Amino acid sequence: MQQLLSVKGNTLYLEGVSLASIAQTFDTPVFVFSAGYLRHRIAEFTTAFSSHWPTFQLMPSFKACPMIAIRQILTELGCGCDVFGHGELEGAVRGGVPPELISVNGSIKDQALLLRALRLGARIVIDSPREIHLTNRLAGELGITARVMLRLKPDMSALDDRSDFAPDYAIADLTDRIKYGIPSTELADIVNQWSSLKHIDCIGFHAHMGRHSKRLHVWREWVRATLSVVGSIEHILSPNESPVINIGGGFASQCDSDLDVAFRDDPTPELAEWAVVITEALHEGFADMKHAADQWTLEVEPGRALHSDAGLHLTSVCNLKQESGAASRQWAEVDTSEVFLDLSGVSGDSPMSYRAVSKASDEQLQVYDVVGMTCNAEMLLLDATMPALEEGDVIALLPTGAYIEPMAANFNALPRPGSVLVDGETAQLIKRHETIDDVFSRDIALAENPT
Ligand SMILES: Cc1ncc(COP(=O)(O)O)c(C=O)c1O
Repeated sequence: MQQLLSVKGNTLYLEGVSLASIAQTFDTPVFVFSAGYLRHRIAEFTTAFSSHWPTFQLMPSFKACPMIAIRQILTELGCGCDVFGHGELEGAVRGGVPPELISVNGSIKDQALLLRALRLGARIVIDSPREIHLTNRLAGELGITARVMLRLKPDMSALDDRSDFAPDYAIADLTDRIKYGIPSTELADIVNQWSSLKHIDCIGFHAHMGRHSKRLHVWREWVRATLSVVGSIEHILSPNESPVINIGGGFASQCDSDLDVAFRDDPTPELAEWAVVITEALHEGFADMKHAADQWTLEVEPGRALHSDAGLHLTSVCNLKQESGAASRQWAEVDTSEVFLDLSGVSGDSPMSYRAVSKASDEQLQVYDVVGMTCNAEMLLLDATMPALEEGDVIALLPTGAYIEPMAANFNALPRPGSVLVDGETAQLIKRHETIDDVFSRDIALAENPT
């Protein structure tokens, strides 16, 4: 979103809206999202992949930014939706996603979730033999045919690259170990029993590697290994629909400051580079198959690569402290917390950038430890260089658009921050701030005080 930030006078603007006015109108701490950046990024994804593949469908992952208003923007732009579990399925429905473009992913899908998905007409991404048999039975009872995809578990043993998530592990070991995808022996059983699954249409195959690597040869191998499984089971595809190949998400965001990824030093490819490698590998893989390459719809499910750089967080300085002895130090105590920002520990090793919102062009800089408000050490930024701060000044922390707002917690009984959407010249609340009553709303007090 850097390109949508600008300084006017001494104030930082996101699109056409002053961030100081957002802090004043909506209070802090608050998450802020840019509709303009989302539109720009969706256009980038679409152009990158559609230039190399005739039928392309973007299926953003709901979990990265699970808000109805954000989802409405994606829906308006023609995106489908990858969801995990009941809550996300309802979120997609409320965000207006056409049911046929909802992909119900994840492990351990219970009967109620499968029934809801079937009644809606959403597609189910099968992760185990139990799921396919349960889906078949439920669809039969409803008198319908279920549209399913099979989630594969490609064999990455041809690679010895380490995972960026956990560099102690090879990608091959982690993709093998991680619970997702139908194990190869169970996949063989399902395929052998296919003719008995009378209420199922297989519309395609799914394989999500995750953000294991930015190296393009890893992605090439991921697609190659996926299609090597597809080639052996394509005969189960339904003749009623054109097939879908979904290679999941796992693309890095432009800033790539995603905290759950330990190693981020490799260069981040442009989406166009990713698209070339992926579509080349698809063309090679489909070359010998019954279903030719141009029959397949290609889907990708970005989470962080779409949302991460679309958001920032505003916090106000509540108090300043200073040590001017031998070891001089200044602390800026702010009204947010590591528990809202998915940070923790005492290293202060935050990959976030920061800007002083109302002193954006000041040149007299000072050094601060910016610390949050719970009883933890709360080292949000150590030795941050900023204009001389005063109580009430607002600081922007960025990027916070993916997997941060939904991970916010209530430690110290703190109400979680609300969210604001900026779109051009306007800003509106899209999720209200939590209240202390909300924090205790699930508690059930004892009828009588214990003696
Ligand atoms: C099935 C599936 N698709 C897509 C994603 C999005 O991944 P990312 O945010 O790394 O793009 C996830 C994330 O866990 C996922 O589980």
